[in-house]
This record gives sequence, structure tokens and C-alpha cells, in this order.
Amino acid sequence: MHQSKWVFTSVAVATVCSAALFIATSAGAANEDQALLDRAKALFKPLPDSAALENTALTPERVALGKALFYETRVSSDGRQACVSCHNPAYHGGDSLPLSMGIYGKVLPRNAPTVFNTALLVAQHYGGNRASVEEQAVKALTSPVAYGNASYEQAEKKLVVLGYQPWFDKAFPGEAKALSAENWGKAIGAFERTLLTPAPFDRFLKGDGQALSAQAKQGLKTFMDTGCAGCHNGVTVGGQSFQKFGIIQDYWLVTGSTEKEAFKGYDKGRFQDTKNEADAFMFKVPQLRNVAMTPPYFHDGSAATLPQAVRIMAQLQLGKQLSDTQVSDIVSFLESLTGAVPADFSKAPSLPVASH
Ligand code: HEC
Ligand code: HEC
Repeated sequence: MHQSKWVFTSVAVATVCSAALFIATSAGAANEDQALLDRAKALFKPLPDSAALENTALTPERVALGKALFYETRVSSDGRQACVSCHNPAYHGGDSLPLSMGIYGKVLPRNAPTVFNTALLVAQHYGGNRASVEEQAVKALTSPVAYGNASYEQAEKKLVVLGYQPWFDKAFPGEAKALSAENWGKAIGAFERTLLTPAPFDRFLKGDGQALSAQAKQGLKTFMDTGCAGCHNGVTVGGQSFQKFGIIQDYWLVTGSTEKEAFKGYDKGRFQDTKNEADAFMFKVPQLRNVAMTPPYFHDGSAATLPQAVRIMAQLQLGKQLSDTQVSDIVSFLESLTGAVPADFSKAPSLPVASH
């Protein structure tokens, strides 16, 4: 009798204790989650609902024209290249190649970044030599490797022949010269401004603690503790500043870059355009949204996998060697930056029929 009562009591005590312990641990975890969220909120921001420029209306007509032009191959000099050739829905807005292939099989000097969320970056291209997505699209028309047109006039004439005049008239109502290279840029830019990809990390930043796995949370912490967020921060987790690639040592010693021919040496980033020594090896910090979906990595596609890129970054930029666990935790965090491919992007549009 005595003994069974004792057993009963001790079970009860044990139950109470473990319940108390459980409450204490979950309160501790909740506090830790809150602390992690507060730290993250100081460095990152959720995607906005719209990337529209205040003075550019994303009208349905303009976005539809931009999408058609994005898919339109007949403006390129070999009739085979369009934005979508190198910024493909199947590859999350990139092309999966170390270096892109342009007109007539010409190899481009750099790796194609995703077009998703790029309207939110500080500037376009690794060297930042394009101020906006609009300017980027206009200048692609006469790029000798992307479209190969001799002039904007030549590209405009092709667009007229292809039957785009009524499309431009509708997208730019009341403009005397609605069909122009400048409006090609505005229309494509309008389409690109719709390509935002909200991800689990956005839900986390908005207060949903369940949006990230325990490993992704650990990875976020490691990402901040290691110093990655010193450069990869803001709404696009990067893409907001220019930094030297290879702070601790020359990048090609670690990446094994084989770009000597295209750059008669190595790619010096911003310097290629400005010729200012202070810009040597300064590259735009890439955004890390969707990075898990866009291998290979770096401006020359020299890192095949994400774990490899993460390890190289720690070594080259911060002089740190990460453990296998740290690398896989960071990769798990980076996976939480993957958003769905915008549904409208994947459906090829119908294009006008050429007038002769
Ligand atoms: C032949 C392949 C190819 C074609 C065609 C092409 N691109 Fe790109 N795109 C690239 C490459 C490579 C880069 C990187 C260039 C650099 O950083 O110097 C790039 C960069 C960009 C960027 C900047 C992204 C960033 O993170 O800085 C945007 C935006 C973009 N392209 C949009 C377009 C649009 C719009 C078109 C069509 C008008 C287009 N591209 C056509 C290969 C291509
Ligand atoms: C001092 C600034 C700086 C720091 C710190 C930094 N990065 Fe980077 N990161 C860059 C720059 C610049 C590039 C572009 C290099 C290139 O391609 O030329 C880059 C590229 C990357 C890429 C490749 C992205 C792509 O699309 O090709 C990944 C992934 C990355 N960084 C992750 C990290 C991680 C993880 C850390 C922390 C261990 C980190 N970075 C620390 C500046 C930095």
C-alpha cells in the first residue's frame, strides 16, 4: 500500500517536472527565435508587394508587351536569341551555364544572374554598368554578343516589320514615337518589375517562426555570426553594394578561374568599365534570393555547387574555414530564399505575326 502510493507520487512528480522542463525549453526556444528574428530584421527586409517605379505605371498592356519582347527572338541578328534564352523559367531566371552563349554561339564573358527581383538591386550587371533594368534592356539591343544590332534604328525597324506597332501604341498611349528602343526598355523593365519571388524567409521576417526549419534558423545565425551579412544584406540579401572579390587572397587562386582570354588577365569587375584602379576587382555583391536554384556560381561560373561557393566565400572574403555542419546549415538557410517561379513567366506568350 505504502509502496504503491510512493510509486504513484513519484510518477506524478516526474510528470510535473518534465512538463515544467518542457515549458521552460519552449519558452527558451521562443525567446531564442525572437532574438534571432530581431537580429535578422535589423539586416534584412521582406520583399515589397511591388517593384514599380513611382513614375512608371505597370499597366497590363505594358507588362504584356514587355513579356512578348522578353521572349522575342526575331530582333537578334541571328534570329535565335531573346532574353528568355539566357533568363529561362526552367532555371529560375538564369541559364545554368558557367558562361552564357550569345548570338552565333559566341561565349559571353560572364555568368547570367537570375532576372528575378533584379529591379530591386542597386545597379545591374556584375560591374554595375547599367543603372536600371530599363537601361539594361535597351543596351542589350546593340550588344555585340547578346543581340548584335548595328543600331537602335535597326532594332526599331525589325519591331515594325514584326507587327509590334499596335502593341507599343497601346502600351504607350499618346506618345508620338511609341515604338522606340527606349520604350522597348520601359516595357521589358515593366515586365521584370513583376518578377518578384516571395520565399519562406519573407514569412519568417514577417513573424512566422515556423517558416524556417531548425537547421535553416541555425544557418541564418551562422550566416550572421560569420560575417556574410556584412555584404549580403537588405531586401535582396545582397545586390546593394560593390565589394572586392578576393579580400584575403586573389580569387583565382581559390576558384580556379579560367577567364584569362576574355579579359586578357582576370575579370576586374567594375574596373572593366571605369578604368579606375580603386574599382579593381570590385563586383556587385550578388543577391542571394533563389541562389540554391541558380548554379553554377560567381561571375565566371567557377563554383559548381552551393556548398563549394559558401566555403570559398568564407575563405576568400572573411579568412574563415567553415566546418561541414556550418556549410550545410548556411545552405539550408539559403534554400529558404527560394521562391516559386512567377506563374506568368513560365507561359510563353503569343507573338505578333510578321507583316511580310
Ligand atoms: C546571351 C545571353 C543573354 C541574353 C540574350 C540576355 N542576357 Fe541578361 N545577362 C546575361 C549575362 C551573361 C549577364 C551578366 C552580365 C554582367 O554582369 O556583366 C546578364 C545580366 C542581366 C541582368 C542583370 C542582373 C544582375 O543581377 O545584375 C538583367 C536584369 C538582365 N540580364 C536582363 C536581360 C534582358 C531583359 C534581356 C533581353 C533584352 C537579356 N538580359 C538578354 C546573359 C544574357
Ligand atoms: C566582403 C563582402 C562579402 C562577404 C563578407 C561575403 N560575400 Fe558572398 N559575395 C561577395 C561578392 C562580391 C560576390 C561576387 C563574386 C563574383 O562572382 O565575382 C559574392 C558571391 C557570393 C555567392 C555566389 C552568388 C552567385 O549567384 O553566384 C554566394 C553563394 C555567396 N557570396 C555567399 C556568401 C556567404 C555564405 C558568405 C559568408 C560565409 C559570404 N558570401 C560573404 C561579397 C561578399
